[in-house]
Amino acid sequence: MADDPRPDPRAGADPEDGSGPADGSDSTGPLARAAYDRLAAGYDREGASKPSNAHLERPATRSLLPDVSGRTVLDAGCGAGHLADRLADGGAAVVGLDASAAMLGYARGRVPDAGFVRADLGTGLPFDADRFDGVASSLAFHYVREWGPLFAELRRVLRPGGWVVCSVQHPHADFEEYDDSENYHEVERVSAVWESFGERVEVPAYRRPLSAVLDPALAAGFRLDELVEPTPTAAFAEQRPERYAYESTHPNFLCLRFVAPG
Ligand SMILES: C[S@@+](CC[C@H](N)C(=O)[O-])C[C@H]1O[C@@H](n2cnc3c(N)ncnc32)[C@H](O)[C@@H]1O
Repeated sequence: MADDPRPDPRAGADPEDGSGPADGSDSTGPLARAAYDRLAAGYDREGASKPSNAHLERPATRSLLPDVSGRTVLDAGCGAGHLADRLADGGAAVVGLDASAAMLGYARGRVPDAGFVRADLGTGLPFDADRFDGVASSLAFHYVREWGPLFAELRRVLRPGGWVVCSVQHPHADFEEYDDSENYHEVERVSAVWESFGERVEVPAYRRPLSAVLDPALAAGFRLDELVEPTPTAAFAEQRPERYAYESTHPNFLCLRFVAPG
């Protein structure tokens, strides 16, 4: 359904062979790529129903999306394509971007009409300026250290008046829950072991203070349009009653909509 899924030959893009970033700027590649290659099968299988995704973060992120019918939308960090699928259902022409070849394999199967490209959000976006009406990104930006260049790139590829709807791990929750967090005010590399997708995988990320979530977007010229700190839905209570009270009283995710000048 994408208008033209083929990317420009810019740094980091690899639409076909999955061989990794093309610019050679980082021989180890994106921070969390190896972890997500390992998690991909579980994420594909459970991503649609896992309570923290399906009944906590995703409803809030989706509530921030404008009408996407007839719009060209980039799903940045598309994973196995759960959000891309919803965007395509809503009538958008979708281009999904992800660092993980394994994730992209599942995304292509889930949303055959979308275009997909393997690229690193941290090394520039492989698209022409003014390409998209909107960017949706669910739980991917916290794997990128430098958000100044990231939001400058998002602004570049968006048409005037375009939007970014994104979700990230909540700064307060990250600081409380990552054992390796030391200084709230710093951007810190952290990691945690995940067992919830059927495999024990260490997943690295970058945690940051709230100011470092907002400032790069504002510096790139975006306006903060809406912010949601999600609480769990009734379906969450049915699936994970033992966790419902905690998730209702502790922040876990932060969902934001930014708008570029018209
Ligand atoms: C938590 S998953 C979310 C996937 C999807 N957005 C969803 O909500 O189902 C994070 C995704 O971000 C991708 N990712 C991590 N770092 C990235 C980077 N530097 N560039 C592009 N994608 C990245 C991972 O490969 C993974 O698919």
